[in-house]
Amino acid sequence: MDSIISVAGVAKTYDTGFRALDPVDLDIRKGEIFALLGPNGAGKTTLISIICGIVRPSAGTITVMGHDAIGDFRAARRLIGLVPQELSVDMFETVLATVKFSRRLFGKAADDGYIEQVLKDLSLWDKRKSKVAELSGGMKRRVLIAKALSHEPEILFLDEPTAGVDVALRRDMWKLVHRLREKGTTIILTTHYIEEAEEMADRVGVIDKGRLILVEDKAVLMRKLGKRRMLISLQEPMAEVPAGLAEWHLELADEGRQLLYLFDAQAERTGIPSLLRKLNELHIGFKDLETSKSSLEDIFVDLVANDRAEQAA
Ligand SMILES: Nc1ncnc2c1ncn2[C@@H]1O[C@H](COP(=O)(O)OP(=O)(O)OP(=O)(O)O)[C@@H](O)[C@H]1O
Ligand SMILES: [Mg+2]
Repeated sequence: MDSIISVAGVAKTYDTGFRALDPVDLDIRKGEIFALLGPNGAGKTTLISIICGIVRPSAGTITVMGHDAIGDFRAARRLIGLVPQELSVDMFETVLATVKFSRRLFGKAADDGYIEQVLKDLSLWDKRKSKVAELSGGMKRRVLIAKALSHEPEILFLDEPTAGVDVALRRDMWKLVHRLREKGTTIILTTHYIEEAEEMADRVGVIDKGRLILVEDKAVLMRKLGKRRMLISLQEPMAEVPAGLAEWHLELADEGRQLLYLFDAQAERTGIPSLLRKLNELHIGFKDLETSKSSLEDIFVDLVANDRAEQAA
């Protein structure tokens, strides 16, 4: 595996005594889009900030393309673009000036053509002469992305890139991320939106209460844990699931008008034919059958619930 970032045994206890991160081991592959998924307070920003050298870990080591992220901070940091979660831009500069300034900070020679392209990619070119303070929230977020890209980083961190951003802009950002990846940029993003991880990521890491519960290829994750659901719309509503259907562990939905059956899409036997035979035998009529895949969202909710139950036990 060609890893571009290596995190080994990284843990964090803040000065308050709060343990935000249990020891984490994680390798980021060159050129991938990695999504760190977790609820509020899970430790996503903490982990990213440690890798970017903004927060000091209590234990562990990080290397970024062979550079120690702490001992050799400048070399490591130069390879990284970071779009922080919090808006932090110089409000009184123009868009163009603030982005050019970011590039200079990293000691890169001026390249007006490159900056123009970045601003155009982010639909900010028309606003280049506006003061940042005069932009909308979503535009300010795009300025942060432009700043992070200003020095042509190998690795881009996006901490909640689409928080507070409308649907159209979110789609634009996804496209931009894919374009960057095509150019070879490695991308690590955090998100609460499972939809976003599902749409963008090659691999997903799930983090909860400072624990990295799992790291998996998105496709494998969805195949391994993905359940399918079948909704059976009944002709007559029922008050409870008949005993004769116990083996399928059905649930009633829509005030008894529907039966819900969850089954393993990978299993040899789905149980559907036998269920349908049984319904027939019991003279339970239905109007419609509908099957759908569970989303990464269902998987995620299950995972976190299981992990918390295990921790509590
Ligand atoms: N500087 C700090 N001092 C003390 N505790 C902190 C500090 N920064 C973060 N924490 C705590 O560490 C935990 C993880 O915070 P972090 O910001 O990493 O979460 P997150 O996963 O990014 O959450 P969100 O989705 O809300 O952005 C939280 O409980 C938070 O209160
Ligand atoms: Mg955060």
